[in-house]
Amino acid sequence: MSVSPMFGWPEVDDSKKMLLEQIRSFAQGEIAPKAKHFDESGEFPSAIVKQLAEMGLMGMMVPEEWGGAGMDAVSYAMAMEEISAACASTGVIMSVNNSLVCAPLAKFGNDDQKRKYLMPLARGEKLGCFALSEPGHGSDPAGLKLQATRVEGGWKLKGSKNWITNGREADFAIVFANQDRSKGHKGICAFIVDTKSQGFQVSKLEDKLGITASSTAALFFDDVFVPESCLLGKEGEGLKVALWTLDGGRIGIASQALGIARCALDASKRFASEREQFGAPIAKLQAIQFFIADMATRLEGARLLTWHAARAKDLGARYTKEAAMAKLSASEAAMWITTKAIQVHGGYGFTKEYVVERNFRDAKITEIYEGTSEIQRLVIAAQELAELQQG
Ligand code: CAA
Repeated sequence: MSVSPMFGWPEVDDSKKMLLEQIRSFAQGEIAPKAKHFDESGEFPSAIVKQLAEMGLMGMMVPEEWGGAGMDAVSYAMAMEEISAACASTGVIMSVNNSLVCAPLAKFGNDDQKRKYLMPLARGEKLGCFALSEPGHGSDPAGLKLQATRVEGGWKLKGSKNWITNGREADFAIVFANQDRSKGHKGICAFIVDTKSQGFQVSKLEDKLGITASSTAALFFDDVFVPESCLLGKEGEGLKVALWTLDGGRIGIASQALGIARCALDASKRFASEREQFGAPIAKLQAIQFFIADMATRLEGARLLTWHAARAKDLGARYTKEAAMAKLSASEAAMWITTKAIQVHGGYGFTKEYVVERNFRDAKITEIYEGTSEIQRLVIAAQELAELQQG
């Protein structure tokens, strides 16, 4: 198994190394042997998620006083890679709860909201989802249509959301709705919605290419009442809450992509050392060595960008560009590496007997959710050009 290049970084002290070893041993011992079953059956890994919660991995960056583990973003990136190397479905379940749900509650929530919603989510007693995308608004959330109407004591929400990870299991959803579309993005508000509320429905579950054990749901809000106390952040600042949240989410998905890619690289190295053709292991062939070299180089480059973004987050700097670069490079590396991993395996790689087939299917979504590769390029270019203007 490849060793993390972070081991040479001063930030990686003994406690982080121990944490990494503990998570790796749990992921490889408890999750990896069940990942094929989860993939084939689509069964939600409830018992594993419970164990992740007991290990403090469902609210890793939430301060301890609010039920979290109080860890930094570098540790989170390392943990996400380990869990995703064993099972990418489990990785995204963990990532959504940590980065898309706990993080905005910790940043924008008031003390009452933190007590009531963040604490059980960070402890992993409850699960959350992030409901931004809609049938007509994926890459362009500024025009989202889910209607928020003021009523006595709060709001009523009406409309649909699409492609919501954890949508079937979530206890609480962070929901973005438009109060007044004439105000552009300044009409968008963020709400905390209890999924047991009357009028909340999971209207469809997607049948997917990969990450099959995590749910991807369409949600329908049929005049769902949300009390005033569940407005998250300020009225009209919902899009900022969403985009701020996605900066952190992109570090999580980049780390998931690293895990998928690492699994495929490790499998390729093992296979190439055992599989004989022309009288010797194929690892002796330069063609295969070149594949391995390029796979390893792309993986480490993407990992360094991912940890660079996580470090920038830990230092309190704005890391929008760094997170976009991390996600872009890690997701494209994962797709490239898993494609080559199948090539190294030849016909075997095209069968479900070998893990690289699953890695290949799981990698694709990392180029799509939490902002497609094209959106990441837009974000990077916008930041680069803004830096030029600032001189
Ligand atoms: N942090 C905080 N605020 C931000 C921000 C950030 N990173 N980026 C922008 N903003 C603010 C801006 O300052 C602006 O506010 P003001 O007008 O007051 O200055 C406001 O937000 C709007 O910014 P833009 O005008 O730049 O926004 P835009 O409409 O042009 O969109 C975009 C930019 C990059 C295309 C953005 O919409 C985007 O990232 N789109 C992709 C959305 C996405 O990732 N969707 C995935 C959904 S989650 C998911 O995948 C589901 C799941 O369950 C895993």
